[in-house]
Amino acid sequence: MAGEKRITLEIFRYNPEDGGEPFFQSYEVEYLNHWVVLDAINWIKDEIDGTIAHRWTCRMGVCGSCGMMVNGEPKLSCHSLLRDYAPGPVRVEPLQHFPVEKDLMIDKSGFMERLAEVKPYIIRDDVNDTGNGEYLQTPAQIAAYHEHSMCINCMLCYAGCPVMSLEPAFLGPAALALGQRYNLDSRDKGQAERVDAMSGDEGLWGCTFVGECSVVCPKHVDPAGAIQKGKIAAAKQWYANFIKPKGAKK
Ligand code: FES
Repeated sequence: MAGEKRITLEIFRYNPEDGGEPFFQSYEVEYLNHWVVLDAINWIKDEIDGTIAHRWTCRMGVCGSCGMMVNGEPKLSCHSLLRDYAPGPVRVEPLQHFPVEKDLMIDKSGFMERLAEVKPYIIRDDVNDTGNGEYLQTPAQIAAYHEHSMCINCMLCYAGCPVMSLEPAFLGPAALALGQRYNLDSRDKGQAERVDAMSGDEGLWGCTFVGECSVVCPKHVDPAGAIQKGKIAAAKQWYANFIKPKGAKK
């Protein structure tokens, strides 16, 4: 291999099915200047040790499948240049706060269930109120939710969130930001259907606003900002209900 520099990767190895304990395995890699951490793992898998389990698809920061802890920080491994970790070693682990399936692969099922809980789609009881199949929006209406719609479901925000380690039932940053994305969409009428899942101590009010989710997000979704907007909307709704005359329509 025609690498220019050398660096050591310490890769987390664990197979729950063989009953063994987790351990770190070191591999020395010759790398080119443009290589990312994912390139090194793929090279190791192709050339040295085909038993390593990891996920990736697009290699361009789009699919969200290559998230890992790189030297203790949640990162997309396809967007983490090896040269930034020189002289090494680079410690690579599965995303924290998730069960490990094998080596660098986590079990995503709990995350997918959380996303479904917030009903991440436009809800309305009429089929179409424009007569032409479209629900038109102004640029300002799109801007209200646009940044929160850029999520690639990479789960880095869950690995960065300190609440996830203390409250495993917490709905978490991506799911709450996704619910809020639809609540802020002028075409949507589903806030009342999301309120049970999104409010409460396991929802919006479980967030302690550390803000690490927004720091580690590779797509600038700003889940922490979305959650705080959700808290403000929930508080306003609670106050409106409180002062509303008895028997008044919602
Ligand atoms: S491989 Fe798709 S985001 Fe990294």
